[in-house]
Amino acid sequence: MARGRGNFNSNGKQKDEGEKVKISKESLKQALVLFTYLKPYRTKFILSMVFIALSAFTTSLFPFFLGKMIDAASPGGSAGMMGGAPSMIEGLGLKEVKWTLNFTLILIFVQLSFQTIFSFMRVYLLTEVGEKSLADMRKDVYSKLLSMPMSYFTEKRVGELSNRISSDLSQIQDAISFTLAEFLRGIFTLVIGLGFIFWISTKLALVMLAVVPVIAVLAVVFGMRIRKMARKAQDQLAESGTIVQETFQGISIVKAFTSEVYEISRYVKSVYAVVDTAIANARYRGAFISFMIFSVFGAIAFVMWYGANMIQTGELTMGSLTMFVIFSMFVGGTFAGFADMFSQLQKTLGATQSVREILRTEGEPVELTPIAIESQYVLKGNVTFKQVAFSYPSRNDVSVLKDITLTANNGEQIALVGPSGAGKSTIAGLLLKFYEPTSGSIWFDDKNSTTFPLTQLRKQMAFVPQDVILFGGTISENIAYGKLGATAEEIADAARKANAHDFISKFPEGYETIVGERGIKLSGGQRQRIAIARAILKDPAILILDEATSSLDSESEQLVQEALDNLMKNRTSFVIAHRLSTIRNAHKIVVIDKGTVAEQGSHEQLMANNGLYRKLNDMQFEFGSVVK
Ligand SMILES: Nc1ncnc2c1ncn2[C@@H]1O[C@H](COP(=O)(O)OP(=O)(O)O)[C@@H](O)[C@H]1O
Ligand SMILES: [Mg+2]
Repeated sequence: MARGRGNFNSNGKQKDEGEKVKISKESLKQALVLFTYLKPYRTKFILSMVFIALSAFTTSLFPFFLGKMIDAASPGGSAGMMGGAPSMIEGLGLKEVKWTLNFTLILIFVQLSFQTIFSFMRVYLLTEVGEKSLADMRKDVYSKLLSMPMSYFTEKRVGELSNRISSDLSQIQDAISFTLAEFLRGIFTLVIGLGFIFWISTKLALVMLAVVPVIAVLAVVFGMRIRKMARKAQDQLAESGTIVQETFQGISIVKAFTSEVYEISRYVKSVYAVVDTAIANARYRGAFISFMIFSVFGAIAFVMWYGANMIQTGELTMGSLTMFVIFSMFVGGTFAGFADMFSQLQKTLGATQSVREILRTEGEPVELTPIAIESQYVLKGNVTFKQVAFSYPSRNDVSVLKDITLTANNGEQIALVGPSGAGKSTIAGLLLKFYEPTSGSIWFDDKNSTTFPLTQLRKQMAFVPQDVILFGGTISENIAYGKLGATAEEIADAARKANAHDFISKFPEGYETIVGERGIKLSGGQRQRIAIARAILKDPAILILDEATSSLDSESEQLVQEALDNLMKNRTSFVIAHRLSTIRNAHKIVVIDKGTVAEQGSHEQLMANNGLYRKLNDMQFEFGSVVK
């Protein structure tokens, strides 16, 4: 995939950062719609929420017991001496409790045991819920994307699309199994922590609250600025990543043109741009970190000093001060965490928006479950184009086809020839109903194409393009793509007819040889013959070949041509050909020029006509005779 550098810029950013969206009522509402995916797992989801609350609560008991332990060891400060709220202690029935050193230790271990169970359960349950609901969501998004019309894919860069989807969905997954839990835990911790702080000493709590929020707000503002600057460095890094990607993708060009020096200098330049930005950021980051160290520790010292004074006057015990400090750290830490969660939430809303957008888009009416061809839709193979005009939805102003009228009778071979850009592939696209004609109509056996369900029609056609893409998997799976559930015999039979059996059998693993991106590389001619075997196995009423032999050398062209002749027998075939020698025997040759039918007839008729066909033919013949 060759991406322009400009394109990647935004793409790379999306990958690393995700798009942030303002938190508004509308965006929240959209996000909540996706919560319907949690519905099947709601029991477990609610249970995990309960465990989050329980684990937050048990965590808060830790500093409480710790404080009690210290008090138990302090001279004179054992049972029940609390600053603040003695009445509450009575209310909780804690007055009778004898807080000894050993007892507090036992309590701590009891608390820790519960805590481990709660934490385990919350992580486990929430991950299960998050993974399962996300898998459902992935399936829906993928199905929806697959049923999008062709124009959707030509207008969007497919690589970007799939990157985008996978990063958006992981963002949502993170939000469900991580951010949400952190958020709830934060809320619980905050409430419980603040409660304890005020219970221990209202006076000290107020002193602390006078200092901490000021620092917290400064930290958040400062932090946001730093993040923004970090993003710039990240973008620049993504750009240098593109250079690496591009050069490796086109490594044969780089080496052939000895452009190593040029590429290295390009890379070094972009890498140093990152360095410059990072160093500029370092000033802010340094200032931020020193400020935070100073103010956090300063605040702790100040609160401790105040609390120590209270111990001297007997208002507070040593243990209570310890509790207080630990609780304050909990509260402070939670505050700091909220800033990050807020930005996570924004990103998640951005992600849900684009996922929702896809789920809401109307796709083509293709069947997403296996269906059989219904008898009333079985094609005989007669095709008629009646004054078809067409422009691509993305280029409304250019009429690619202006007036195409042609007829193909059951079993005939129709060759479409003409200069490149004339509109031949577009005609193939219209046949497959990738697009609808802007005006005019296409008829299959006296029925307007619009009356056919899309899947019924496409099930009866086979398409062999110029560049055959094999899917990752075995050769046999790739051939069976034309007919799911075909037997090994059928597959081998199709391969034999496609002149592919011999070369396939020569592989050590035969039909089980893995092909595709991670498998072995096949030559153009070999891939073409596998595609033909695929089409033979499908046994379609209508066959469309778009320059199926154009990129082949003459030896494999001959093998492929033989295979194609086998394939075209007894079915209507549209053959788009570049080399006119291959279609000389077609029943009808239709010459397309600038979106219109320039002339049509048999080879002899068109040669006698002295028109465009003759001109193209003569040109190729001269060229051919020089080369051969
Ligand atoms: N997806 C598309 N969106 C917009 N224009 C397109 C698209 N595909 C092809 N075209 C334009 O339509 C014209 C005909 O293209 P095509 O049918 O591929 O020609 P041919 O197969 O005869 O070489 C060309 O000018 C091409 O630029
Ligand atoms: Mg073409």
